Amino acid sequence: MGTGVLTVPFPRVDGELCAGPFRLSELAERFGTPLYVYHLEQIEARYHAFTHAFREVDHLVAYSVKANGNLAILHRLGQLGAGADIVSLGELYRARRAGIPTERMLYAGVGKTEEELREGIEAGIYSFNVESRGELKRLDAVAASMGAVAPFAIRVNPEIVSPTPHEYTRTGHAETKFGVMVDEGFELYAWARGRPHLRARGIDVHIGSQILEPRPYFDALSRVIAMVPRLREEGDELEFVDIGGGYGVPYDAEPRLVIEDLANVILPLVKSAGLRLVMEPGRFIVGEAGVLLTRVEYVKRLGTKWFVIVDGGMSELIRPSHYDAYHAIEPVVMPGAPHIEVVDVVGPICESGDFLARARPLELPEPGDVLAVRTVGAYGFAMASNYNARRRPAEILIEGDQAHVVRERETIEDLVRGETIPWEKPGKGGRGER
Ligand code: LLP
Repeated sequence: MGTGVLTVPFPRVDGELCAGPFRLSELAERFGTPLYVYHLEQIEARYHAFTHAFREVDHLVAYSVKANGNLAILHRLGQLGAGADIVSLGELYRARRAGIPTERMLYAGVGKTEEELREGIEAGIYSFNVESRGELKRLDAVAASMGAVAPFAIRVNPEIVSPTPHEYTRTGHAETKFGVMVDEGFELYAWARGRPHLRARGIDVHIGSQILEPRPYFDALSRVIAMVPRLREEGDELEFVDIGGGYGVPYDAEPRLVIEDLANVILPLVKSAGLRLVMEPGRFIVGEAGVLLTRVEYVKRLGTKWFVIVDGGMSELIRPSHYDAYHAIEPVVMPGAPHIEVVDVVGPICESGDFLARARPLELPEPGDVLAVRTVGAYGFAMASNYNARRRPAEILIEGDQAHVVRERETIEDLVRGETIPWEKPGKGGRGER
């Protein structure tokens, strides 16, 4: 297997953006827009780069399903050896359906229901990452009622304000809802000790998302690893330390998090603790491997301002609107005589917050042109919605010289599936007639 040479995703060849042997313009024509396109070799290269960097220690890459839960992607990552970081029964189902072994899964999340705990135990997942006293008690009760032993790790809140681009993606300090404080962590491990239905298997921390430097990881890991000798002394035989996800990727001109640098900084700590290392990357594996293709419907000028109105918006990609996130946007075919204007690229949704880019210098496109929105492989489709009764787009996966439809575009009927009009006569419906 390769060591993960990272090549530029979706390069421009002879003026056209491409994915392997395909021109993106051709894919837009063939499958329609808006359209998510993923390049499998990019995903594989990033997975290999990631796992290669940590090869010196026993480790598990538990891919964070929330970033992109497409079955084909999960399946391939599972084949490569990845596990899964899951947060719902839906993600458990997806990951299992894609063939990822449950003993490689970690169940995270602050609000696990009784049903989720039961099904997770039943499935035989590797560990529950427990985020509160209430959850640990509930886990004990559920495991006891099943006559099972539930493996867990306590998610420690290390009180680190991580340098993420938006406050919504910081999770490592006490202002946020995540984890428990160090002292409470000790209390919870002590409480669990001697309870026959609980097994302390590891310790967990996750400080946020889109982090571009190794330092915050070092700080967070130091904090939890410092807890380990005392826990061992008190009788816990911990097996792993989970440092969560959050490994950043370049969206604009920012430097990439060099994964070897991160490994160099944290591996000595992991080795000294003698623990298995669990990591939960999402964005790092899939982020750059996806583009959203969207077609220009109209170009208009209001006063001095240019608007490029495209057929994809916040329902397909909510990150610009929700986190004020930057995504590079480029024409898939470079125009002959470029004419740059500062524009807002906006969607068709009836909200002023429906934009993909604001005040962005762009080659002024014409109606019918296709634009590529970059770095949307993570938290793109995964956060898409049906707002404004829009059909969620198709997802295409490029594998070698094949373009697979790995998710069909939703149909109009999909939009009303499960809904009923109680006073409509049976057998009728669909057209509003009575
Ligand atoms: N582990 C835990 C416990 C997490 O909460 C998350 C992300 C991850 C791993 C994966 O993080 P990643 O490696 O993908 O950064 N929707 C936001 C990001 C929110 C992430 C939530 N948790 C975005 O679009 O930037």
